[in-house]
Amino acid sequence: MRSSRRWTRASVYIVAVLVAYAAGCSNAPSSSNPAPATADVTALIAAGDPERGAAIFLGQAADVAAPACVTCHAVEAGAAPTSLGPNLTGIAIRAGTTVPNQSAEAYLWESIVAPNTHLAPGYSENIMLTVYGDLLTEQDIADVVRYLLTLES
Ligand code: HEC
Repeated sequence: MRSSRRWTRASVYIVAVLVAYAAGCSNAPSSSNPAPATADVTALIAAGDPERGAAIFLGQAADVAAPACVTCHAVEAGAAPTSLGPNLTGIAIRAGTTVPNQSAEAYLWESIVAPNTHLAPGYSENIMLTVYGDLLTEQDIADVVRYLLTLES
């Protein structure tokens, strides 16, 4: 009895800390993007702009200063100069079945902001840069994911 009450108090405390943390985050400048990969970003992605996402992917978006994804990833629109990363042709199809119970949207978002969480088969950690969560805004990431979701074949 006693210990369960203690647990309840501990959980209330944990929830309070999480709420305070979340409130702090929502005041953060939009240029820094600490969004966890589990965030529900489906609506943001659905409203994303795939053409802008493609421009970011190719390093051609004038307002985005982040290393181009195409440096390491080949896509149907072009071959990468290196084979550092997996070919993303068809990623829209396999993204939804790569991790059990993870949607394509969540998998792709996570692949960008936390690339070491689930490594693509045959690749090692820390080759994909881990800077994108800081260098891209949530809108940038949503646009890139929206673009990746067009890569069906
Ligand atoms: C320096 C090379 C490099 C750059 C730049 C890079 N990646 Fe990657 N990426 C990798 C490597 C290596 C992997 C495989 C290891 C892993 O899963 O983290 C990977 C994995 C991925 C995956 C998962 C692929 C799969 O088959 O499941 C996605 C999606 C992805 N990257 C998207 C991006 C996007 C979008 C960008 C730009 C915002 C980007 N990458 C920039 C190297 C890179």
